[in-house]
Amino acid sequence: MNVRFDPARNLRGQLRAPADKSISHRAALLGAMCAEPVRIDNFLKAADTKATLASARALGALVEVHLSGVVMRGAGLRGARSPQGPIDVGNAGTLLRILPGWLAGQEGRCFTLDGDQSIRRRPVDRIIAPLRAMGAELQAREDRFAPLSIRGRALHGIEYDLPVASAQVKSCILLAALLAEGRTSVLESLPSRDHTERMLARAGAPITRRDGAIDLCPVDELELPALTVPGDISSAAFFVAAAILVPGSRLLIRDVGVNSTRCGFLQIAQRMGAIVLADLERPDADGAIAPEEPVSDIDVAHGALEGTTVEGHEVPLAIDELPLVALLGCFAEGETTVRGAGELRVKESDRIDTVVRGLRALGAQIEATADGFCVQGTGALRGGVLDAHGDHRLAMLGAIAGLASRDGVEVRGFEVADVSYPRFREDLASLLSGHGDADIHLVSQ
Ligand code: S3P
Repeated sequence: MNVRFDPARNLRGQLRAPADKSISHRAALLGAMCAEPVRIDNFLKAADTKATLASARALGALVEVHLSGVVMRGAGLRGARSPQGPIDVGNAGTLLRILPGWLAGQEGRCFTLDGDQSIRRRPVDRIIAPLRAMGAELQAREDRFAPLSIRGRALHGIEYDLPVASAQVKSCILLAALLAEGRTSVLESLPSRDHTERMLARAGAPITRRDGAIDLCPVDELELPALTVPGDISSAAFFVAAAILVPGSRLLIRDVGVNSTRCGFLQIAQRMGAIVLADLERPDADGAIAPEEPVSDIDVAHGALEGTTVEGHEVPLAIDELPLVALLGCFAEGETTVRGAGELRVKESDRIDTVVRGLRALGAQIEATADGFCVQGTGALRGGVLDAHGDHRLAMLGAIAGLASRDGVEVRGFEVADVSYPRFREDLASLLSGHGDADIHLVSQ
């Protein structure tokens, strides 16, 4: 589906961003691991998280989807059922990388995970190595890609130093640790999103944090109290960027998750001079794991920007929003550089390549580097055509670029936005309504 996003006069009003994708995945997975019923309000209903619910069902969970969320009764920590055929993770890298942690310890049962073309290009050797070190039996195509097969075995705890700052890998090891004999420690030199740690603490697991490490011991069962998923800061970020870039804009985005391990983009935007107000969580100095997810409204208005440099230590805190940093950089005064972000190359697309080629086709002065990009701000963007390359965040990047551009942007393959934000066009239209010169046109199905 090709959709054209015209230059907007302004965006004004209020918005509730869709529920957090990372937290929804984790809630459904932990729900599938509990033997007692779990209630998850404001669960994200998008392609990625529907794949997680379908996987939970295939593994023996009962799942009821309601208007307000999901109620499920899982298979129990050691009770995952061998499914009939392969588990289809669709496009969901988080599901592909986290679920095997639980399955690796289901003694005597076999599982295969597979997904779409994009998922088959995303490496899983990063979880195979630590799980094998715990005693797991796994096989993958070229020992690196899906389909990934797992034969459940008795596991033992390990100390693992994460070679890449990846919340998915960390989470996978933590789920395996619930079933492993002895203590597991995961060492991370840079903090990455900690939703799994918080949810495990909430579910009663003996999880603690010390300087740069997370320790977890096995449990008999998990019990997850009812929870409400906050709005997704990664989805809200598209509208934050739109309001910053389109003159005359002012938006209030309600109930967004502002976990300190996710707020990097808002802090980068603030540093660039953007008017962004929110009650952001500060990292806890004593390292305690808070079981709750903090929530805030975000008030954002149009304003001028200056270029900035994003260094490697900030990258995990803003990893999915770095394409938007590139877009802000196009409109900023001076140079904007992102370094230490080689992980972008193994996202839903090679996001260094697709962002740089995509924005350049719209008139941006942007160069790729091995581990990031460098943009010369010109204060404007011409517009043109951008291919989403099967990447939901690239599709929405193109949409926001169109609103802020001189000539508008046609996004090819816009339907992929459904992976995380099925209501994107409706939400955008509600903020544009009232002035007819800005519009969203379906060019072709
Ligand atoms: C995610 C972690 C990040 C992020 C992805 C979601 C998660 O990936 O890019 O969109 O839910 O844990 P990595 O952990 O591989 O950096």
